Amino acid sequence: MLGNGSDELISLLAMACDVPGATIVSPVPGFVMYGVSAQLQGLKFVGVPLTADFELDEAAMLGAVAAYKPAITYLAYPNNPTANLWDDAVIEKIIEAVGRQGGLVVMDEAYQPFASKSYIDRITRHGHVLLLRTLSKFGLAGVRLGYLMGPIALIAEINKVRPPYNISVLNYECALFALEHQEVFAAQALELIAQRAMLLEALGNMAGVRAWKSDANMILIRVADAAKTFEGMKSRGVLVKNVSKMHPLLVNCLRLTVGTAGENVQMLAALQESL
Ligand SMILES: Cc1ncc(COP(=O)(O)O)c(C=O)c1O
Repeated sequence: MLGNGSDELISLLAMACDVPGATIVSPVPGFVMYGVSAQLQGLKFVGVPLTADFELDEAAMLGAVAAYKPAITYLAYPNNPTANLWDDAVIEKIIEAVGRQGGLVVMDEAYQPFASKSYIDRITRHGHVLLLRTLSKFGLAGVRLGYLMGPIALIAEINKVRPPYNISVLNYECALFALEHQEVFAAQALELIAQRAMLLEALGNMAGVRAWKSDANMILIRVADAAKTFEGMKSRGVLVKNVSKMHPLLVNCLRLTVGTAGENVQMLAALQESL
């Protein structure tokens, strides 16, 4: 099933599961639209804090699944803004627990082009797991094309709430043209992965910066004073995302986007000067 970006599919999932008392569960900090889609549709949203190192809190997640019996549980793989993949054994336990109480799990693989692993080979093991992807991180954020994969019968139910002509023919044509030239986008993703390794090495050697491992096209770092560093970088012409107020676990954290080689050199210099 196609959507105008995965954002539209996230909204349609909330609409499709809108029965009285329905709840959406997701680890936090996570992608904001899971909570926003619940709020706009009038569903309850329960954010389950990650551990201090941004891993899944197994006991808390299983507790939330048992307590709220969520209609939808989102697991972003890799997560945004922390950029990491989570423990597969814990993911499997959550999927099984959700399945036992009749809910859906959506594995959101928006950042798959940069990730070392995917859930795609495991999806057929379960009848209640859907996989969400997008052409945005593939390299075409402006085209707005997301896709939801899963068991045909389940997709057919969600498809009932999709507006009849949601994807324009221009989107289709752009996407088809891009997929016919996917080697160009694959090379671009490989270049970003190489740049990410370079950035992680440089950040690892920078005093006053803690950087977390990344499987996406962004890197989460912690500095002594996020607001000061953010403003310093901005005044040097480098705009990063200040996520430090998004969630208590993200105190003094900034999210850096992996750019071209030249942009990354500029970003590292601006960061160093702004610490
Ligand atoms: C985890 C995750 N899922 C989904 C999206 C939505 O992407 P789009 O609507 O561009 O497909 C994003 C965007 O940043 C994201 O980070």
